[in-house]
Amino acid sequence: MNIVIETPDDYKATTQLTFAAFETFHSPYLPPRDLPDEHYLVHIMRDSPAFIPELAFVGWQDGDIIANIMYTKSKIVRPNGDNLETITFGPLSVKPQFQNQGYGAEMVHYSLKKAHELGYGAVVIVGHPDYYSRFGFKPAKEFNLTMPEGETFDPFMALELEPGYLGTSGGVYYEDKIFHFEASDFRNWHEDVWSKRKFNPKDESEVI
Ligand SMILES: CC(C)(COP(=O)(O)OP(=O)(O)OC[C@H]1O[C@@H](n2cnc3c(N)ncnc32)[C@H](O)[C@@H]1OP(=O)(O)O)[C@@H](O)C(=O)NCCC(=O)NCCS
Repeated sequence: MNIVIETPDDYKATTQLTFAAFETFHSPYLPPRDLPDEHYLVHIMRDSPAFIPELAFVGWQDGDIIANIMYTKSKIVRPNGDNLETITFGPLSVKPQFQNQGYGAEMVHYSLKKAHELGYGAVVIVGHPDYYSRFGFKPAKEFNLTMPEGETFDPFMALELEPGYLGTSGGVYYEDKIFHFEASDFRNWHEDVWSKRKFNPKDESEVI
């Protein structure tokens, strides 16, 4: 797999790939849902000021994009009110027929290395603990971090790219507001743009 930065020419493929990857994905930590929405997140993320284009990667193999990962800026607000910049990845997607062959891990390792090279100090995510612990992610509570409502749970994890960056004073983690889109906006987009006209999961030549 050849990993490169995503370009606008790749947007259609990565959005479709995201839908395909999440279509059959069911998180044990979330209630069942009838429709994935990660493809909408990918679609709107690129227009967000929090989006980090230098950390949006696609993995190519034999002329196809088979994996992608995207990062946004996030932050921790310390108990004294100071802000600490962090970054957050997701969605991470691997084309269904290529899953469980190490490509997802390759995307994570590669992008974490690049993030460190770009000077970012820590990555905070909400994801599957069994999967992400293998990259060194630890429960966020080990860094005294909580979600905005004060809660902490196993999928809430953090990784220091720079040892000691998160320190011990903890704080509240805020992901970008892009993750909290209106369900009605997603439904409208999905019905108007995605389902009706411009996307057919069986035909990757269709346009978004
Ligand atoms: C999750 C995903 C990115 C992993 O990439 P991948 O290339 O399939 O996985 P890898 O080959 O790197 O790793 C395989 C391991 O991950 C585990 N794994 C795969 N998907 C997983 C998931 N959603 N949650 C937890 N573990 C998962 C496999 O069981 C396997 O475990 P093993 O090494 O103990 O046998 C990919 O399966 C995918 O796109 N899934 C659908 C979308 C998704 O779940 N995205 C991440 C949301 S947090």
